[in-house]
Amino acid sequence: MATQGNLDVLILGSGGREHSLLKACLRSPRVAKVRVAPGNGGMALEAECLEVDAANPAAVLALVRQTGSNFVIVGPEVPLAAGVVDALEAAGVPAYGPLAAGARLEASKAFSKDFMVRHKVPTASSETFRQLEPALAYVRRQSVPIVIKASGLAAGKGVVIATTHAEAEAALRDMMQAKIFGASGDEVVIEEFMQGEEASIMLMVCGEEYLMLPPSQDHKRVGEGDTGLNTGGMGAYAPTTVVTPEVERRLREEIIVPTLRGLKADGIDYRGTLYVGIMVTATGPRVVEYNVRFGDPECQVLMPSLETDPVQIMEDIALGRFRSASVKLRPGATIIIVLAAGGYPGEIRKGDVITLPVNLPAGVDIVHGGTKRQADGRVVTAGGRVLGVVAHGATLQEAAQRAYSVVPQVKFEGSHYRRDIGYRQLRRDGVL
Ligand code: AMP
Ligand code: GLY
Repeated sequence: MATQGNLDVLILGSGGREHSLLKACLRSPRVAKVRVAPGNGGMALEAECLEVDAANPAAVLALVRQTGSNFVIVGPEVPLAAGVVDALEAAGVPAYGPLAAGARLEASKAFSKDFMVRHKVPTASSETFRQLEPALAYVRRQSVPIVIKASGLAAGKGVVIATTHAEAEAALRDMMQAKIFGASGDEVVIEEFMQGEEASIMLMVCGEEYLMLPPSQDHKRVGEGDTGLNTGGMGAYAPTTVVTPEVERRLREEIIVPTLRGLKADGIDYRGTLYVGIMVTATGPRVVEYNVRFGDPECQVLMPSLETDPVQIMEDIALGRFRSASVKLRPGATIIIVLAAGGYPGEIRKGDVITLPVNLPAGVDIVHGGTKRQADGRVVTAGGRVLGVVAHGATLQEAAQRAYSVVPQVKFEGSHYRRDIGYRQLRRDGVL
């Protein structure tokens, strides 16, 4: 049995995902103390927020030495790709999240496509290019729609689904010539468009041992009915039955097992979250992309889905001793409705004062993302996805009713949100 409460945790990140990880730490009997860097306005009300350049492994290590933290949870991909966990582990500080070698699955789409081909993981067929002219010539020979991806990290914005050849060529010129994503566009992946419904599969991985959290669905478009521009995610829910028992069987056998075996075969000791974005197509589940961290906002609905202490799981994974058999999930469904700043996902308003409900009904919580606590104690908007209302219920319908009963009580100038989060599942459940 683990001893109680001796973890002194540092969480890296500042979004809704990290606020939900902070809440998990505050609930955890394993945790004696928790700090965050850099944090946000909501996290500042619950824990000490510190400054750090999280993309600089030496700076993170210096902060850990200064605070005496003995466990680090890394929220976003940038510090992982920069080798923060490598630096911490080398210094004897356990951390949750993969080493830089594993983080390449997200940091380089060219690498992840090559990985999937080598290990026979079903995905869209693709070609990788470093020169504009051959890329243009290739795209002209393909049918549309076609998908153009900057290989490197582009904060979720490096993917264009081109419906005409002109659009595809423009996307290639933007990425490879105008360098709108900088060096992330030095290499470009051009891939087949897959038809189907997407699901987010969050795995907590310890080598070949893994826990699959309930399959979730994100809503990436800003507008209702999945219209308008792409965003980081306007809401999410779990579980989703688009992953039927048969899809789940194929997902485990054809995608998860070959992926974890492939990592091992490539000499990568993967410990941390592996987010497998899948498309459930007519011929079975296929991988859209790998991410090496929890999804945001998926994390906010998945942390409350665990009955077992998530921090205990993360600690066991970091120490390489995780066994999934003992993990218990909570029955029911969880949803998050994201409230975005005026103008999002374009140019956003900032600095608007946020009014929050004084009391929350049972089963409802508020998770901050782009917020800031001012010196006068007021919490103001400071980012695109400002905050989210999270609710749990016996059914998704109940969870959605609970969440939407609170949403209008959260007020700030310019606020907007989608009224249809979870609609695909509510239709499947026959309640919409
Ligand atoms: P990614 O950053 O690779 O996840 O791509 C962002 C979004 O673009 C995904 O969540 C999908 O909605 C869409 N997408 C990416 N690749 C494909 C594909 N090959 N076929 C269809 N949709 C895709
Ligand atoms: N919600 C999608 C992502 O975190 O990438």
